[in-house]
Amino acid sequence: MRFDLLTIFPQLLDSPLNEGIIKRARASEALQIETHNIRDFALDKHACTDDRPFGGGEGMVMKPEPLIAALQAVHKKTPGGHVVFMTPQGRPYNQKLAAELARRPHLVIICGRYEGVDARVEEYIDDEVSIGDYVLTGGELPAMVLIDSITRLLPGVLGCDDSAAGDSFSRGLLKHPQYTRPRVFAGQTVPEVLISGDHGAIAKWRLAQSVNRTRVRRPDLLEKAAFSEDELRGLKADGTDTKGLRHRQKQKIRLDIALVHYPVSNKNNEIIGSAITNLDLHDIARASATYGVDTYYVITPYADQQTLAREIMAHWQSGHGAAYNPDRQEAFRRVEVLGSLAELYGAVTKKWHGRPLVLATSAAKQTADLSYHKVRQRLAAGERMLVLFGTGWGLAPEAVEQVDAFLPPLGGEGYNHLAVRSAAAIILDRLLG
Ligand code: ADE
Repeated sequence: MRFDLLTIFPQLLDSPLNEGIIKRARASEALQIETHNIRDFALDKHACTDDRPFGGGEGMVMKPEPLIAALQAVHKKTPGGHVVFMTPQGRPYNQKLAAELARRPHLVIICGRYEGVDARVEEYIDDEVSIGDYVLTGGELPAMVLIDSITRLLPGVLGCDDSAAGDSFSRGLLKHPQYTRPRVFAGQTVPEVLISGDHGAIAKWRLAQSVNRTRVRRPDLLEKAAFSEDELRGLKADGTDTKGLRHRQKQKIRLDIALVHYPVSNKNNEIIGSAITNLDLHDIARASATYGVDTYYVITPYADQQTLAREIMAHWQSGHGAAYNPDRQEAFRRVEVLGSLAELYGAVTKKWHGRPLVLATSAAKQTADLSYHKVRQRLAAGERMLVLFGTGWGLAPEAVEQVDAFLPPLGGEGYNHLAVRSAAAIILDRLLG
């Protein structure tokens, strides 16, 4: 993820951006941050970035020219950033908005100062965000709040995928109490259940504590939280007050998969386009129907290959095959042939009203960014995802670049050359089975 920050006080940001988890994420390249001094874009010799308000009144207003010149320079160097202006008049910031912004690959954050910013910059801004109903001297600290909270949601940034999932607010509840050594401190002992080693009992205890804490401290949150049937039963059985707790509706699974025939590598690491196979079309369509994949995309740029795939599908959808085997007709209903990865990203972004998280596996990359368990949980919570399967010797580097996170490679000991349709079936079972 990339952040570009526009400020007149770049030094103010130095220390928070160069410590702890953010420093580590920047070193790992999960995170790129660049600060830009708006003053460098001022037009006059005093590098003036503010002026008195028309109509009179207190304080100074940030001038539009240096700010917009700085913004244009950022867009020119790295196009496509989503421009966020930090202002007390913006959308209220919370964990949900953090998760929404974390899905964008590039944010350009404008830190305002003084009494405000010339209103004519508004048309250059995509989003306005406030970190609370109070006024700070500028947008730099709010920008740090955004970067910090978004960074910890990026795949692979926190040591364990589950760290962010267990945060306060991540599921609309406050976090349960935490303990570490010593077991007894000033006469207070750690609750027995936490040393029992019984993970089921620990999870239940933590949920009950979260519910109780939220009920006392933030009853407003509890009204919006939702619980599964199992959770409500467990809470009730343990004597937790479940009055007013809402039952969670089953989320629609928003998972697409794509079988990529181009660009992939061959065994000599050359970039090639591979051929469509009848077996992959059929078997992955059947696995997709079995597990509830929304669309199975088949990606090939070659017109003759597209025709071949469509002819096979037509045979089973409306030709003789449809009457002969209606189940196969049902499986092929969710298959779509597209010409490129760009078309694929366009189609899924349009369908889900936002870009899904793009996942892949790679035999070459042995370290995973997200566990199957974690992805399963996020799918169940309604997140949009797309899993890419490379044919040949796997996705070419230019396709890998667009992947947001890798799942663990499949395999046991040694030999791990699975057919792509086997890998697809196994992964679908792990994520949705
Ligand atoms: N700039 C000044 N106060 C702010 C706030 N509360 N949120 C975002 N930006 C600000």
